[in-house]
Amino acid sequence: MSRRPLLLALLTAGGVTALAPLPANAQGSLVVYCSVQEEWCRPMMAAFERATGIRVAMTRKSSGETLTQIRAEASNPRGDIWWGGTGDPHIQAAEENLTIEYRSPRLAELHPWAVRQAEQTGFRTVGIYAGALGYSYNTRELARRGIAAPRCWADLIKPEFRGEVQVADPNTSGTAYTMLATLVQLKGEEPAFAFLRALHRNVNQYTRSGAAPARAAATGETLVGITFLHDAVTQKVGGAPVELVAPCEGTGYEIGSMSIIRGARNLEQAKRFYDWALSAEAQAIGAEAKSYQLPSNRATPIPPEAPRFENVRLIDYDFARWGSAQERTRLLDRWQREVRAAAR
Ligand code: G6P
Repeated sequence: MSRRPLLLALLTAGGVTALAPLPANAQGSLVVYCSVQEEWCRPMMAAFERATGIRVAMTRKSSGETLTQIRAEASNPRGDIWWGGTGDPHIQAAEENLTIEYRSPRLAELHPWAVRQAEQTGFRTVGIYAGALGYSYNTRELARRGIAAPRCWADLIKPEFRGEVQVADPNTSGTAYTMLATLVQLKGEEPAFAFLRALHRNVNQYTRSGAAPARAAATGETLVGITFLHDAVTQKVGGAPVELVAPCEGTGYEIGSMSIIRGARNLEQAKRFYDWALSAEAQAIGAEAKSYQLPSNRATPIPPEAPRFENVRLIDYDFARWGSAQERTRLLDRWQREVRAAAR
């Protein structure tokens, strides 16, 4: 139950007008771990503070890093709610009992894919947005080097892209883990690892954060950046000379998720954030912040800039399997041993 009416009643009873500004911490506080772009995290937290009077302390970290942090803090949790980031590590957190079951009254407002994410984890997580994986390239740099425009995953391992491809590290980044699990599902595990070893020779840097390669492609620091397509749209909308590619062989996608952390000190506030973040109004903040995912609330308008799934050849990504602790840990270990550690 909200504490606000009680507080207002007390203030009024004490002779203070109900219109007097409430102290900033009147409604308590909330610690949010945010795994979308900082540019979206900030206005989202500010809007929640305005809507509820709850003070938010927010930390932005990538999806894999956040899972690692929540696990490390399990005996003394510091965070209350984890908002955003790819679904796989949220699913793993649910399986590791790091997050709790919560059935928001707003579940009925969501697209079926977002509800399925909740059902598959015993309601320990829920879908808040979706986005397809792909890559972008800098059109000016491509022309300058006289390289033919890439269209497929297979193009990225060609010799002309040596040192020209950037992607994040799947240990820290949910985006990069989505690529790893996508290739395994698309090609089968052995061919996928052969591809990743070949790609390794062309990678100039494994970044911590998943969207960083889209920014690097926008500035020409790298020719190609592998990210979610909506992260490249943000750059294009900002005027960068980039072109987007939904790979010809097909590609995977994310269901960005949200979970309440087990042992949350501000559980009531965490649930208020959860319900609010699923609302159509709160989800509309994404597009205002130039984040062009597909929102999970059916009433939130799809931003016209958002890459539409109808135009992308999508695989039937098995989130339950590739988000499981066993498979995720196994794939990451294998990637570390066979890809990251390999000579270039
Ligand atoms: C960006 C994307 C999000 C995605 C997130 C994952 O912020 O816009 O859709 O969920 O990256 O971040 P990570 O750094 O874990 O790859």
